[in-house]
Amino acid sequence: MMEQQRQQYLEAMGITAWVRRDLPEQVPVAVEATPTPNAENAQVAAVAKATPATASQEAEISSLPPPVVEPGHAASNNRVAQLDWPSLQQAVQDCQACELHKTRLNPVFGIGDPRARWMIVGEAPGVEEDKRGQPFVGKAGKLLDAMLQAVGLNRQTVFIANILKCRPPNNRDPQAHEIDACSTFLQRQIELIQPELILAVGRYAAQTLLQSNEPIGKLRGQVSKHLASGIPVVATYHPAYLLRQPGEKRKSWEDLKLAMTVSNPSNK
Ligand code: URA
Repeated sequence: MMEQQRQQYLEAMGITAWVRRDLPEQVPVAVEATPTPNAENAQVAAVAKATPATASQEAEISSLPPPVVEPGHAASNNRVAQLDWPSLQQAVQDCQACELHKTRLNPVFGIGDPRARWMIVGEAPGVEEDKRGQPFVGKAGKLLDAMLQAVGLNRQTVFIANILKCRPPNNRDPQAHEIDACSTFLQRQIELIQPELILAVGRYAAQTLLQSNEPIGKLRGQVSKHLASGIPVVATYHPAYLLRQPGEKRKSWEDLKLAMTVSNPSNK
């Protein structure tokens, strides 16, 4: 990527790229941003035991017909666990497992490369995503794009999905029974993609994938494991939160650098 372009993405993340003048080529080596002091920062600092990235770290399944998934139907869940990619897409399209199917315009399956090395998992579609049937197309999506670009990725080279495939009305928080009803879809996506790394953005994604009730400030800053698959998970703040709290972007950048130490898609 052109260095100038990369710096623009870093700037979009609220990060100043410093250029070392003693190197033959102008390589940005350190990134800093001034965190905006706020109450949550203080709280997070008090509880977080984040592992900051060190310099060295920088371094056919069956083709059964798709089930119409009904609430609490274990047999349907078992069938989802055997679906191939197109059948899984169809099953999400037809899903009636929770009330959200009544108010959605479009279910949002996800977007990107089904063989991606990185999988990004968000919370749930919002109003724009519901209209377009694609994840992260609103303002938060633009920031997510910038975050990905800052590490040399984009929405074609990763796979982006959500915990919930349907929009909760009025963008309310996902409910436990909805997460439960939808989780087999995400689980099957993870099994089929087999990513090297899952980047969980936001509290719901992190808590669901890590089966934890800890706050995001405590879950981020370290490499964890997705319990069901053993795939490494790096949790970070949700881009919508970062838009409200730009001072936290620096921590997200640390999380992205940590994620790159686990899997760096530009290394083959
Ligand atoms: N927020 C999310 O978590 N996911 C989306 O797809 C859009 C906004």
